[in-house]
Amino acid sequence: MEQLIIRGGKPLKGEVTISGSKNAALPIITASLLAPGVHQITNVPELRDVATMGRLIGHMGGLTGYREGIMTLDTGRLRTPEAPYEMVKTMRASVLVLGPLVARFGKARVSLPGGCAIGGRPIDQHIKGLEKMGAKITLESGYVIARARQLKGTKIYFDMATVTGTENIMMAATLAKGTTILENSAREPEVKDLADCLISMGAKIKGAGESVVEITGVDSLIPIANYSVIPDRIETGTFMAIAGATGGDIVIKNCRINHLDAVVMKLKDAGLRFDETKKGLRVIGPKRPQAGSITTLPYPGFPTDMQAQFMALMTIAGGTSIIHESIFENRFMHVAELRRMGADISIDGGTAAVKGVERLTGAPVMATDLRASASLIVAALCAKGESTIQRIYHLDRGYERIDDKLRKLGADVKRVME
Ligand code: EPZ
Repeated sequence: MEQLIIRGGKPLKGEVTISGSKNAALPIITASLLAPGVHQITNVPELRDVATMGRLIGHMGGLTGYREGIMTLDTGRLRTPEAPYEMVKTMRASVLVLGPLVARFGKARVSLPGGCAIGGRPIDQHIKGLEKMGAKITLESGYVIARARQLKGTKIYFDMATVTGTENIMMAATLAKGTTILENSAREPEVKDLADCLISMGAKIKGAGESVVEITGVDSLIPIANYSVIPDRIETGTFMAIAGATGGDIVIKNCRINHLDAVVMKLKDAGLRFDETKKGLRVIGPKRPQAGSITTLPYPGFPTDMQAQFMALMTIAGGTSIIHESIFENRFMHVAELRRMGADISIDGGTAAVKGVERLTGAPVMATDLRASASLIVAALCAKGESTIQRIYHLDRGYERIDDKLRKLGADVKRVME
């Protein structure tokens, strides 16, 4: 397996270009299942998860191609509307094929994702939504079997804001008979991006990105024509944290600062300075960050996907920070690794108290999930000495060539085989 060797302590300076959003690209790729024909999606990041989703569409009989950010899919001749366990267990976002398959083919066989490092991550809201639209759902040996001659529009209330739950049901509703109202919908920019793509396919959707979304079913949709995926706001936030932790001066190009209001506010409180220039968003890190506290919340609150990176920044802040993770039950896997680097963190349930230390020291550490890996990068870049980050396949799931991007900013980072 590959690992990253990072020698920390240098302020990172220069320009970085943000790639397309993983969490917008994945649902948009599954939207191609809703309409036969050749689809073209642009600004698609070159990630393991994107490749996995492409393989899943291929498994069903679709044809897929990817070149320099452009993904082409032909879903005209799908023959097996199913997502097998072998694929779903490596990427839970595979569950996003459920809604489109039931809507277009009237049936789907999708493996239950099973838990993952950060939590149980059930999909009861996805299933409840489809049942309310008239689908017959059975669970057989770890698979969700869904059947529906014709989904019907109805009112659906989500028990909690679920991103892929909202996306799955929104996609299913585009081809349902009648109108569907989704209440307590997730408001993430990636949900809005999916809706904008569906609208470009002929779907009738109002209110996406708000908590009440109205979808009026249509008979059919047309293939995606050159839809460009929004920039990745979590990659953007990660580079902001890197600027903050290394006392750097980074111009972040091709990002949407308005997708990160809560993160920018907290980073400003920590002493980072932001300047929107013609070239991009300039982020200047302080000599030493100030401690600050956060609670992760559904959008527009502080995103759970930025919790680990923010914690890494707070490990060297002046003062004590309180970090409460309210979305997932086990999203502190990075804490043990940060402690190995000298961080002073105590955990009580879903709350971590981070007492800032002057300096971290490099150490061999292990990536456990995507965003935990990102927090280890933030820590290694500001630590004194050398760190080795193992199992970086987690990182490659969601960050496009991050070591190249870091080297361009002056980081001393090498990718080597373990
Ligand atoms: C999406 O996951 C993202 N993944 C996650 O990003 C992100 O952390 C998460 O939203 C929260 O923002 C993609 O978009 C592909 P949820 P998702 O359904 O949709 C509970 C990353 O790092 N819940 O919004 O799976 C659930 O257990 C990944 O890029 C139910 O109980 O998350 C969690 O506690 C990690 N039943 C909460 O809701 C359900 O049916 C929010 O989960 C669905 C969710």
